[in-house]
Amino acid sequence: MPQWYEESFGEDYLLVYKHRNRQNASFEAEQITRWLQLSKQDLILDLCCGTGRHTIALGRNDFRVVGLDLSKTLLSHAVSESAGLPIPFVHGDMRTLPFMDHSFEVVLNLFTSFGYFTQDRDNQQVLAEINRVLKPEGRFLIDFMNPESVKRKLVPVSEREEQGIHIREERKIAGDFVLKEIWVRDDKGERHYQERVKMYSMDRMEAMMEQAGLTIEQVYGNFRGEPYQTMSDRMIFLGRVYK
Ligand SMILES: C[S@@+](CC[C@H](N)C(=O)[O-])C[C@H]1O[C@@H](n2cnc3c(N)ncnc32)[C@H](O)[C@@H]1O
Repeated sequence: MPQWYEESFGEDYLLVYKHRNRQNASFEAEQITRWLQLSKQDLILDLCCGTGRHTIALGRNDFRVVGLDLSKTLLSHAVSESAGLPIPFVHGDMRTLPFMDHSFEVVLNLFTSFGYFTQDRDNQQVLAEINRVLKPEGRFLIDFMNPESVKRKLVPVSEREEQGIHIREERKIAGDFVLKEIWVRDDKGERHYQERVKMYSMDRMEAMMEQAGLTIEQVYGNFRGEPYQTMSDRMIFLGRVYK
């Protein structure tokens, strides 16, 4: 049986998450550039790049960047939207990256592209892969949801129309997971998707990163640069690997 993350990142995803657009991404890419002091020599991996929102924003600013994603549909958007820019977009799984050890100066993992696997060891494996493909003293940025804020702000049901298409979203907490069910209805019929993300707490993230050899140097609570607090929207981890 296919896993939710193999089915939920197709054309309908682009409609449901239309508000997460390229404009947000350019602002975030500028902030990432400052925070990680990116240089034009750095080779940067945008891990789980989707349509390449951040990859392309960085590429436009002449950074050397590679995007990797599992969704061929989203990658095909990335390829067409990056036309003219020298950005390789690679198909792959975040647990088994098709790159040599020590390939990158920087790895980015943006907009909750972590916690997708039921088994902790698979999520842990993603962090191990980030370490493996980073050069010694390579930098990383992982932008993850903050479970405390997700629990407090959870909207159980919402419905809206987007370009004449009806979207219904239902959200709930089940154990350590946040579950979202999405129904998209248009003149072609109704499609159903699921998202299932493990809500790792700050303590768990710190422990998992330590186990993977990822040293956290800073945690922001949002892309405006406010420091993390218990109720922050996000947990944005910045750090280095020392090996
Ligand atoms: C929430 S989206 C974020 C995309 C992008 N970072 C952005 O900000 O627009 C999560 C991405 O992870 C990708 N993904 C899901 N499972 C994956 C896996 N096992 N390996 C690599 N990418 C995966 C999805 O295809 C999707 O593009």
